[in-house]
Amino acid sequence: MKKTLLITGGAGFIGSHVVRQFVTNYPDYFIVNIDKLTYAGNLENLKDLEDAENYRFEKIDIVSPAEIDSVFNRYKVDGVIHLAAESHVDRSIANPLDFVFTNVVGTVNLLNACLKNWKSNFQGRLFYHISTDEVYGSLDQGGYFIESTPYDPKSPYSASKASSDHFIRAYSNTYKLPVIISNCSNNYGPNQFPEKLIPLAINNIKNNKHIPIYGKGENIRDWLYVIDHARAIDLIFHRGTSGETYNIGGNNEWQNIDLIRLLCKVMDKKLDKAEGLSAKLITYVKDRAGHDLRYAIDSGKLRQELHWEPSVTFEQGLELTVDWYLNNEEWIKNITTGEYEKYYQTQYANR
Ligand code: NAD
Ligand code: TYD
Repeated sequence: MKKTLLITGGAGFIGSHVVRQFVTNYPDYFIVNIDKLTYAGNLENLKDLEDAENYRFEKIDIVSPAEIDSVFNRYKVDGVIHLAAESHVDRSIANPLDFVFTNVVGTVNLLNACLKNWKSNFQGRLFYHISTDEVYGSLDQGGYFIESTPYDPKSPYSASKASSDHFIRAYSNTYKLPVIISNCSNNYGPNQFPEKLIPLAINNIKNNKHIPIYGKGENIRDWLYVIDHARAIDLIFHRGTSGETYNIGGNNEWQNIDLIRLLCKVMDKKLDKAEGLSAKLITYVKDRAGHDLRYAIDSGKLRQELHWEPSVTFEQGLELTVDWYLNNEEWIKNITTGEYEKYYQTQYANR
């Protein structure tokens, strides 16, 4: 008997790598990818899997309980790996309600569908939420986020993710629904929408446009290669303990400005430009409102209990990422026309 897994948000950046990880490594599983295909969802991310026998795509909005029901009625769902979300902090500052609908209401709709369809027979079932380290707030005084760090979200995005995490724990406590949550640091890699720092900078350098650095560029993030996140999700889904939380991070902190300087060097080399040319595009712009200073994850629990380690260094991952963007011009061209241009103009016009 095949296990049927629902992966939500599988047409997005991280979701597409998770879908590939499961479709490729588990031919005995049937993977149903449900995604609304917002601006961030792109079926081109999954072109290589279109004909896989153990894979199906369903265009579904998780804000609609009826659409979710239609999926649960057609497939005997054994597990959910939930990634569908509005994911960009700047958009959450401009339109917080979109984040409440998808990230909070959408998550509760999925939880309700699991309760209804699993009917308290939770044996072999799991609801696994892919969350973010941003729920813990900002580490202005040093230290690291551990799994028991109190939640202190500071942006509408992180508040919506924190809220969804709280609902998941409430369903675990109240209804005994088997759940796992993992909170991961900033991802980078192929297929990331160029609204996020690294792909935006790669795209701008390629097109000889300014690289906008918010504030003084001193904010710190911990970066993880997306495929290492997908590997961690695989491990946690199979070997994690129900009811537990796992932090995932690269142990790889960078100030934004240092990261961008390193990226500029890689781009100079790849584009055969004189050293220092890309860095000339760096432009300091108005800071993000309420900009979190530092995120840093202690992923010791995952490393010790489940023996996970990242497979690439940051330098390797960055080079793989740059190569991917330079080799996939069509992918980036298709998504940076029209809506993206409008977004860019509004987002960066007054900075
Ligand atoms: P993304 O924005 O690239 O993809 C999100 C996907 O969700 C898209 O395919 C989109 O179409 C889909 N979606 C949005 N609203 C939907 C709806 N109402 N119904 C169905 N599908 C919908 O995001 P990502 O960067 O791949 O992040 C995936 C998940 O991982 C998110 O939950 C995010 O909070 C979490 N996360 C991301 C990072 C990161 O650095 N990107 C880090 C930690 C955790
Ligand atoms: P981002 O990729 O949006 O991820 P997050 O806000 O979830 O950490 O941003 C990463 C860091 O880069 C963050 O400190 C904001 C900063 N940043 C810029 O300086 N310029 C930009 O154009 C963007 C998009 C982000």
